[in-house]
Amino acid sequence: MYKYVIHGGKPLFGEIEISGAKNAAVGILPAALMVDGVCRIENVPQISDVTLCLEILSGLGAEVRMINKNTVEIDSRHIRNFSVPDDLCRRMRASYYLIGALLGRFGKAQVSLPGGCDFGIRPIDLHIKGFEKLGATVSVRSGFVYANAEEDGLTGAHIYMDQVSVGATMNVMMAAALSKGQTIIETAAKEPHVVDLANFLNTMGAHIMGAGTDVIKIRGVERLHGGTYSIIPDQIEAGTYMACVAAAGGNVLIRNVIPKHMDCITSKLEEMGVEVREDGDNIRIIRKRPLTRTNVNTMPYPGFPTDMQPQITACLCLANGTSRVNEGVWDNRFRYVNEFRRMGAKIQADGKWAVVEGVSQLTGAPLQACDLRAGAAMVVAGLAAKGTTEIGNIHYIERGYDDLVGKLRGVGADITIIACPDEDSVTAAG
Ligand code: UD1
Repeated sequence: MYKYVIHGGKPLFGEIEISGAKNAAVGILPAALMVDGVCRIENVPQISDVTLCLEILSGLGAEVRMINKNTVEIDSRHIRNFSVPDDLCRRMRASYYLIGALLGRFGKAQVSLPGGCDFGIRPIDLHIKGFEKLGATVSVRSGFVYANAEEDGLTGAHIYMDQVSVGATMNVMMAAALSKGQTIIETAAKEPHVVDLANFLNTMGAHIMGAGTDVIKIRGVERLHGGTYSIIPDQIEAGTYMACVAAAGGNVLIRNVIPKHMDCITSKLEEMGVEVREDGDNIRIIRKRPLTRTNVNTMPYPGFPTDMQPQITACLCLANGTSRVNEGVWDNRFRYVNEFRRMGAKIQADGKWAVVEGVSQLTGAPLQACDLRAGAAMVVAGLAAKGTTEIGNIHYIERGYDDLVGKLRGVGADITIIACPDEDSVTAAG
């Protein structure tokens, strides 16, 4: 068990390099199972969700070779196993992508119901409806999803998503890429990682058009071939470091981003009085003045991302005036507010709303991360707070942030990771 110890109140100066996107990687790595050849995937972040994904792929019979710390080669030519064990799936929400990938390539999949961060009911009904539209028989029994299309194979279909879902869009796109005929997905999610998965599959020989818009058209192909692909930079990791600078103050160059992906976050920070300058693949973020209040509504891309909601709320705790935050995607994503209150934040949450009355100073406190982004938001708050903040349950944070401690230390933050006795940390499914 480890925890972060932060001595806060110091502005940040220097440069931070952004890693590959977690939510793209956890889709693209399972998609490598669909390829009848060798995929070389670059810019893979070193995070525990990726380690878990690679462990699952190896368990299914793929040959996984790390070429260097961010490049992996996956050879899925000899897979003979279509069943993914329960203990691995429980630790990662994105394990549902294995259903689309295995179903597309082999016409069958047996995958345990996914785990992941707990912020409300996280159904997969839209994924299942999509697979059924493509002709698969899907059943959920004893905690496993069984999908089968061995008899007639998958056939392209016109699929209307009842709700915008990143996971369902990506999962159905995978299965459809290797089906017969054309699939149209309407009300598709437009997140950057949806586009990245489509680009990966197209590089391997798929025909997917329209990713990044509401309507994605997929012309199924018989097989995918090997190739090389580089994962996009992580929008949420970059946004989290922008929030760190906004909260703690300073002047930091965030390197290797796609500035267009950052627009929804940049414009909110600008409203709060933070200076953001685009410079090619980099973004400079400068905070000199006190922060100003604003309101935030999370929604699917290109709206403000729900995965940045806790981090921006940490900033609003320190802004002049009262801000309102509406969580428009998940039912229960304010479980962290009690931890912020321990730091002196004035924040009330009720269902999908939080009201934040800014204070001039937060005070360090012992905290427990309760999910990935909430944990990251505690780091944001801890960097700005006066005194010492200790954050337990950091296994949540390490699911999605590559070398968070090293990157923050590189811009002058006083953050260390220390071993702590087991009883300090409450464990829960990641
Ligand atoms: C992905 C991200 C997660 C992010 C979320 C929204 C990954 C691995 N995770 O999660 O970090 O917070 O997008 O940007 O990429 N829904 C249904 N039925 C379904 C699927 C979803 O009702 O079958 C609902 C969900 O309850 C939620 C909304 O749709 O209210 C959006 O969920 P979705 O976009 O599917 O989230 P994930 O793909 O699981």
